[in-house]
Amino acid sequence: MVAYKSKMVESISLPPRDRRERNLEAAGYNVFNLDADEVFIDLLTDSGTGAMSDSQWAALIRGDEAYAGSRGFDRLESAVEDVMGFSHVIPAHQGRGAENVLYGTVLSEGDVVPNNTHFDTTRAHVANQGAEPVDCPVDRAFDPDASDPFKGNFSLERAREVVDDVGPERVPLVIQTITNNSAAGQPVSVENTRRVREFADEIDATFVVDACRFAENAAFVRRREEEFADREIDEIAREQLGHADAVVMSGKKDGLVNAGGFVATDDADLYERCKQRAILYEGFPTYGGMAGRDVAALAVGLREAVEEAYVTDRIDRVAAFGEMLADVGVPIYGPTGGHAVYLDAGSALSHLPAEAFPGQAFVCELYREGGVRGVELGSFAFPETDRPELVRLAVPRRTYSREHFEHVAETAATVLEKREEVVGFEIAAEPEIPELRHFTAGLEPLA
Ligand code: F0G
Repeated sequence: MVAYKSKMVESISLPPRDRRERNLEAAGYNVFNLDADEVFIDLLTDSGTGAMSDSQWAALIRGDEAYAGSRGFDRLESAVEDVMGFSHVIPAHQGRGAENVLYGTVLSEGDVVPNNTHFDTTRAHVANQGAEPVDCPVDRAFDPDASDPFKGNFSLERAREVVDDVGPERVPLVIQTITNNSAAGQPVSVENTRRVREFADEIDATFVVDACRFAENAAFVRRREEEFADREIDEIAREQLGHADAVVMSGKKDGLVNAGGFVATDDADLYERCKQRAILYEGFPTYGGMAGRDVAALAVGLREAVEEAYVTDRIDRVAAFGEMLADVGVPIYGPTGGHAVYLDAGSALSHLPAEAFPGQAFVCELYREGGVRGVELGSFAFPETDRPELVRLAVPRRTYSREHFEHVAETAATVLEKREEVVGFEIAAEPEIPELRHFTAGLEPLA
């Protein structure tokens, strides 16, 4: 049941069709190049795009801008301790800043890092330390039709194979990402987190949880893991995160803010080491690249994220959006995850081979037909992997209502009706770093 109402609004409008056509062409058929004002419903990401509450705005105005020892930082420390259970916090400008601080501290050249699935920036930060990121998803993680409750889990089998291969001394760090963004936002069970803790102990590795969407994950755990059926969301979160030595957090997701992130840990030694790197790259460790007011808003947002009324509404809303799409015949990845609905463009546009980027074709059609912006997470974003041709429609927190989602579903239905006319793409210009090509590459429609 919805637990908030609007107090401030922002106008949006659907540009006329001929302008949408011109915009697409001018953007090189890459929706990252579109002006946001030319987008009607923006589902590019759930990161930093949500609405803050009146309590957060109040905290923001009262936040102080002291370089060292701000009041806002004290509040953030207490919020992290109360909600997540960690006593030391190092703020960062956003999640990837926190990744740089932590992974730059614990990794060295030649290390190997298992993770259920690395998010793009995680993969890049691990690689940036000269270490090798290895994905260890469970077998059915990329099967859009499998109905398992925890398709986001970390495969211990795969991780053990990695350790057998390279030896435990080369694996100083194990990461678990909850929810598993790169595997359709699927949740991770607490039982799986316990097993990963044991595995990390066996090989004497540091265990880090990427906690960006920890509250959404806890809401799934409560529904799907029997042991937790009667537990509060924040209790579940503390139980799950408590198995980790440290967490990296992007406040732009379950911190319910537009900017910010942090590293948190109970390990005093790790905290001291990270602090030095944080000063170098982020800022003094009581603000870490964030404005003091944003630190204050994050302290409030973290507490709101684990309120039951908010977070159950959140995952229900995403599930309802998924049902609307399924009802009009759009093939979606099921069950829906926590922060987005993923369309299976490979099956929707089955006449297009992977080389013609069916996901990107679907993304462009969503914009052409209805001014909707999603993002391709198939062959265009992940060259040379055998992932399905998914399109992510990410849902900003507390931002869109049922009518908006109905418009998206109607738009997707129109694309499906015209599917035979939809053409594929080829790459016209691409940047030097292949991992980042989908952000800036230009495309051309195939004749
Ligand atoms: N880890 C995960 C699992 C993420 O999903 C993200 C960001 C990050 C780390 C990095 O955090 O953006 O604050 O630097 N995901 C966004 C997305 C960008 O669209 O999924 P950040």
